[in-house]
Amino acid sequence: MAKIIGALATSHTPTIGFAVDRDKRSDPDWAPIFAAYEPLREWLGRARPDVLLYVYNDHVTSFFFDHYSMFALGIGTSWESADEGSGPRNLPSIAGHPELAQHIGACLVAEEFDMAFFQGKPLDHGCFSPLSAMMDYVNGWPVALVPLQVGVLQFPVPSASRCYKLGAALRRAIESYPVDVRVAIVATGGLSHQVHGERSGYNDVDWDRRFLELIEKDPVALTRVTLAEFAKLGGMEGAEVIMWLIMRGALPAAVKCMHKAYYLPSMTGIAVAIFEPESPACPGNWQQPYLEGVSSQLKGIEEVSGTYPFTLATSSRCYRVNRFLHDLIIPEKRATFRANERAAMAVAGLTSEEVALVSQRDWRGLIHYGASFFVLEKLAAVVGMSNLHIYAHMRGEPLEQFLKTRNAPGALYSVAGTESGDLEWDKSRPHGRP
Ligand code: FE2
Repeated sequence: MAKIIGALATSHTPTIGFAVDRDKRSDPDWAPIFAAYEPLREWLGRARPDVLLYVYNDHVTSFFFDHYSMFALGIGTSWESADEGSGPRNLPSIAGHPELAQHIGACLVAEEFDMAFFQGKPLDHGCFSPLSAMMDYVNGWPVALVPLQVGVLQFPVPSASRCYKLGAALRRAIESYPVDVRVAIVATGGLSHQVHGERSGYNDVDWDRRFLELIEKDPVALTRVTLAEFAKLGGMEGAEVIMWLIMRGALPAAVKCMHKAYYLPSMTGIAVAIFEPESPACPGNWQQPYLEGVSSQLKGIEEVSGTYPFTLATSSRCYRVNRFLHDLIIPEKRATFRANERAAMAVAGLTSEEVALVSQRDWRGLIHYGASFFVLEKLAAVVGMSNLHIYAHMRGEPLEQFLKTRNAPGALYSVAGTESGDLEWDKSRPHGRP
């Protein structure tokens, strides 16, 4: 079974990554940052986790206000450093762990956390700034990463209590993963700082030190603190320390603090901590009934023939081809596809199997492969076919035969819009139009 071997907590100010990239370890202004992270580097080198479950928040880089979510779990196969305004940092991509992420996602949803899931999005300084100070990466990162992005920048925001409860559920999710994987939880964010308005530059060192005590010894007391109180005590943006409660909820009540450091160089109190669980994994033989509960909603679906639920596993495995077909909603991509399908698919990196499925309009094959029906109807609209053509093909029937099974056999339709023009299968089209 998977095991939580310990937890790290760290601020995630861009200061840290800036100091790493410019190697400021000999500069007295910056040296305390490197000193604070040295024990984390040693701990990671000694404990050798296979995966970091990495709690962070994006800073309106990859998660914008067009679709903002509370708890978003990364199910992707690898993660790139984001461009935050002048190109990405020179960091290698880090491997994801889609299988563990899928399991955690299923468990958290079964525990009634309405999770969001993401892939293909680069991670900003909230993730990579402290990560680059914790371990050497020049020859590739020595660990896989499952990011958990928390939406703390647009209210309503989850409460500290909700974060703590999510952490407790996270522990059950990880400790029920039936593969021997060593997991370290990493919480990022804080400590005191405010970066907007007349109060920007606010810090409170005493509160930061009290927070570090409470997170170790009495995290439940922190779950009673409101977001306004966190903002008053540690600055509005400092209220992101609620993410530490996810980490703390994933640990038992009693923890050993192996290291703690605090340094306030400029705008943000930079804190780090290492915790190890005093007691082993959740006791008892609870995993079997727990996993039965997690899988209960789709239990028996395999007996429903011709039916393929689109799961996180499918989504992760088939992201490339689904992304390609989805992007046909973008006029430029659509034009490129229409001009030369093969070239467009080559640029998108589709495999020969994927190219063959799309080229042959093998709708049934695409469903079996892992495409979502709802990207197939976009392709149909681009190539001038109706949804009924897809349904008939998936059923293995000639179109005319399938249409005879409908109450209104002449009712063909698609999601086609203004570009579609005269569709030969649309009997109501205006005849004689040029
Ligand atoms: Fe942040």
